Amino acid sequence: MILKNLIAPLFIMLAAQAKGGDTASGADPLSLRVISFNIRYAAPGWIHERPWRVRGPRVIAQLAESAANATMAGAVPVIGLQEVLRAQLADIKGGLGPDWAHVGTGRDDGREKGEYCPLLYRRGAVALVDSVQRWLSPTPERPSFWPGAGSRRYVVVGVFEDAATGRRFIAANTHLDNVSAKARTEGVKIALDTIKEVQEKWGPGLGVTLTGDFNSEPGQDAYETVREDGYLVDMYTLVDETRRFGPYATYSGFDPSAEPRVEKRIDFVHVGPDNAWSANRYEVLSNVQEDIYISDHKAVVGDVTLRS
Ligand SMILES: *[C@@H]1O[C@H](CO)[C@@H](O)[C@H](O)[C@H]1NC(C)=O
Ligand SMILES: *[C@@H]1O[C@H](CO)[C@@H](O)[C@H](O)[C@H]1NC(C)=O
Repeated sequence: MILKNLIAPLFIMLAAQAKGGDTASGADPLSLRVISFNIRYAAPGWIHERPWRVRGPRVIAQLAESAANATMAGAVPVIGLQEVLRAQLADIKGGLGPDWAHVGTGRDDGREKGEYCPLLYRRGAVALVDSVQRWLSPTPERPSFWPGAGSRRYVVVGVFEDAATGRRFIAANTHLDNVSAKARTEGVKIALDTIKEVQEKWGPGLGVTLTGDFNSEPGQDAYETVREDGYLVDMYTLVDETRRFGPYATYSGFDPSAEPRVEKRIDFVHVGPDNAWSANRYEVLSNVQEDIYISDHKAVVGDVTLRS
């Protein structure tokens, strides 16, 4: 009897430690590593910009390492990329391994043409429950432009179920226009509406992440549209400097001498709603390896844990 009273709590403690030690709520926590990275489409290159053949393996190695680090720490990696051509997506998925899948199509035909803005996830870690893709235009159901936009733009939204905890969350990824501020502000409203629609269908109360190249800095058009909307919050603003790592800017260009003039923070991991996640750590990774720019943007890495 005495022995049983001693041993039972010990087993509960050990079991809790094995699962990550979340005894307080009685439920397993769900942690994500959310990555946003504009990898730059495979352009021929120019002076400082090396071809994808040179950049690609380094991009893939960085993504694989960041995702593996997350997995080792018990977090689920979810990767939102921008400017990915079909062949680049094949290279990346080939490099990450057969466990990786994606949602999101080529933006120009809804199939394989043009840049993809894909969400990549590990099938062994999460199951895709539903996904919606909408173009950021007056005709969101088909490949189309916002009037005056430089390119066709879309948002892709996935509902995922974590295999370990059974918990669901929503992850979204986008790339806002580089030419028209109006296209960015109206486009990001469509992205937010799409996310909220998915929340209405599968929620309420699902945690949401939104990755993206906004082509818009804090204080400017689309960034301010999201801030004023309030549904999602820029992860950068949720962590103090002790939990922020790496440089401030997420865009550098390819020319080291021009970098101080052009660098800016335009790539984001937004999370929400209603304080759904605790923000643990934010990092901007270096995009220069052995003097090679692996992209003209840097990867943004956000570590979050679902509350309750
Ligand atoms: C992975 O973790 C190791 C050890 O903490 C760290 O040195 C490395 O920078 C991490 N890699 C990435 C891509 O974050
Ligand atoms: C916008 O992006 C397109 C495609 O990458 C590029 O051709 C164009 O020069 C860019 N425009 C501006 C204003 O940056």
